[in-house]
Amino acid sequence: SGAPRPRLTFLGTGYLGATYAICFAELGYEVIGFDVDEAKIAKLAAGSVPFHEPGLDELLRRNLAAGRLRFSTSYQETAEFGDVHFICVGTPQRADGMGADLSYVETAVTGLAPHLSRKALIVGKSTVPVGTAEWVEQLVGKHSPADLGIEVAWSPEFLQEGFAVEDVLRPNRIVVGVKSEWANGMLYAAHKGVFDLAATEDREVPLVVTDFATAELVKVAANAFLATKISFINAMAEVCEVAGGDVTQLSRAIGYDPRIGNRFLQAGLGFGGACLPKDIRAFQARAQELGAGEALRFLHEVDLINLRRRTRVLTLAAELLDRRVGPAGPDLSGTRIAVLGATFKPNTDDVRDAPSLAVAAMLAKAGADVHLYDPEGNENARRTLPDLSYETSMNAAVQDSDLVCVLTEWADFRNADPVALGEIVGGRRVIDGRNCLDSTLWTGAGWDYRGM
Ligand code: UGA
Repeated sequence: SGAPRPRLTFLGTGYLGATYAICFAELGYEVIGFDVDEAKIAKLAAGSVPFHEPGLDELLRRNLAAGRLRFSTSYQETAEFGDVHFICVGTPQRADGMGADLSYVETAVTGLAPHLSRKALIVGKSTVPVGTAEWVEQLVGKHSPADLGIEVAWSPEFLQEGFAVEDVLRPNRIVVGVKSEWANGMLYAAHKGVFDLAATEDREVPLVVTDFATAELVKVAANAFLATKISFINAMAEVCEVAGGDVTQLSRAIGYDPRIGNRFLQAGLGFGGACLPKDIRAFQARAQELGAGEALRFLHEVDLINLRRRTRVLTLAAELLDRRVGPAGPDLSGTRIAVLGATFKPNTDDVRDAPSLAVAAMLAKAGADVHLYDPEGNENARRTLPDLSYETSMNAAVQDSDLVCVLTEWADFRNADPVALGEIVGGRRVIDGRNCLDSTLWTGAGWDYRGM
């Protein structure tokens, strides 16, 4: 209260960094968003968010206009401006398929550190293998002017695409891994806007202060738990399928127990996106390196259950279309299939590791003529899978198809009218890859319906 607010920088203006930069400006901080990608920075500076996230465009324009938010490609400008520098760059899956690639973190830290000219705090936000914060601290020691006493901290983030603005402004907790009281105080000041907003709304945001290792592990543990929850219910779906049970009812029934909880218990095509699949693999790889591989062996199973959901759609398609499944999988040649949904979940244009696109590719590989439509993801999907037919509406995709596959639960698809669609298809067959349709309604309209 009364203390001056630190100036904040966010290095890496991808999904995470851009959202944070914009939202923290909205909370009243003076902010620079930095990136090495000049095109991205030019776009943001001109008031346009380079990805689809509800509500973010408006906040960007408002805070640019208010003069609290700037974008830069200069390490020098960024270093001179900030008191607290957040590292928000990507940590993609390494080419070997398991561990995390930390080269962007290294580039950001070694780019920034030499230009620092007063005491400052560097805070890691990217999802990283445990031990990275210690390594960053060494890098900073080596690359920053010795007399400044630059410090490092770690503060993981938990935002979900599609809800990112809410998740940043109103997080359900803040976790900081610190080594000193000074760093702790700086991070508190850097989040004071979040605590103040909560206070005006009569809420409290829990603050968990930990060591480096714990802060790093909290993030991957949270994502591993979420992935496990999804694969658990999908494993139950596999058992329901052979036993004649209904996994949607089962999920609802167990979810009433508050110890279990009903969220993230939706059976279907499983999890995708840029986080959960890669994070559970990197977590296993790191645990293995540390000698605790056995402790996370179950995550391998979580991964396998998740990937099996994709093949399940292929099997269902063959069943519905009366096609033989040979050793190389089903032959779907001569069929026209509508795929509704390309993004890894609704309300985003992100198709990274999207289960829906993986299935679309499998259907095409099996010989089907795939017509795809997604309300926001067509463009990104086309870049990944250029050979499919992309349609500009649901009706165009569904027209004359022998089978409709709903693979992302966009509201447009959930609310689609099975009677009207039934008039324009070649055959009334539908796979509900997200268990999001009203099966009674579809069956009543003459469709051969299969859920997951
Ligand atoms: C996830 C986490 O939920 C965030 O807390 C975390 O901050 C983020 O990763 C990250 O590490 O950056 P996100 O990737 O945006 O967020 O997506 P989720 O909403 O978690 O959904 C992941 C996938 O799980 C989607 O493909 C979704 O369709 C699937 N899912 C989700 C299910 O199959 N069933 C469910 O019940 C819930």
